[in-house]
Amino acid sequence: MNHRWWNHGAETGKIKVVGLLVVAVLLFVCIMGAWPDRSTSVFMTKGDESSQKEEDVESPQEDSELKRPEIDPEKPMLALTFDDGPGKYTDTLLNKLQECNARATFLVLGQNVRKYPETVKRMEELGCEIGNHTYDHKKLTTLTPEEIQAEVEQTNQVLTEVLGHGASLVRPSYGAINDEVRANVAYPYLMWSVDTTDWQRKDAVSIVNYVLETVQDGDIVLFHDIHDFTIEAMMTLIPALQERGYQLVTVSEMAKLRGVIFENGQKYFHFRK
Ligand code: NI
Repeated sequence: MNHRWWNHGAETGKIKVVGLLVVAVLLFVCIMGAWPDRSTSVFMTKGDESSQKEEDVESPQEDSELKRPEIDPEKPMLALTFDDGPGKYTDTLLNKLQECNARATFLVLGQNVRKYPETVKRMEELGCEIGNHTYDHKKLTTLTPEEIQAEVEQTNQVLTEVLGHGASLVRPSYGAINDEVRANVAYPYLMWSVDTTDWQRKDAVSIVNYVLETVQDGDIVLFHDIHDFTIEAMMTLIPALQERGYQLVTVSEMAKLRGVIFENGQKYFHFRK
């Protein structure tokens, strides 16, 4: 701060008054400028600080899910879901999704996440969603409570090693759920409304035609990204669905856009209007 005028200010009363006014204004500006910092440091309790941190961590994820300006909630949408991978063809599918600005949901096996960690990272980078499809595809309804828990938690552990977080949705292998599973797997269960039976068809054209004839707005469509014929089908199907006006979104995007809030132990088959 320049103090020169302060000395001159002693010469006449007028200059003195002006000088004091300037000091007052400068002090006011300094105090107001510092106020936001003071309010957080002085008035925020410890509890507030931790909740503030949680919000800081969560908001970017929520933003990426909700702020896709190209998605129109009023227009038709589908959630394409791929089970049992990742596998050696999954990156080809990711290339096509990226090229078409489409998203999908991958229900991964823990043992395959170990084999293809870079593919799983890329899924997330492209805005795709990752769900838990057990560790090695055992039928949960045939297992003990400890084994059931291990099938789900081991997959979330390996996902956490790769991505820094586990999956929030579970699709039990074979869709097999009973009371024992419900008691030991406290997650929302992601089912499907269109089963492409791609593994039986073993033919890209057959898969493409079946899906184009069958799907409607809000469907969750089941594929397996471990088969070359499924990947071949997707090369045609992704642009063909988009040409028919379907927005290809993740399961969680579609749930949010349709006002559905996931609850543990509930099954979700579709998000039709
Ligand atoms: Ni499966």
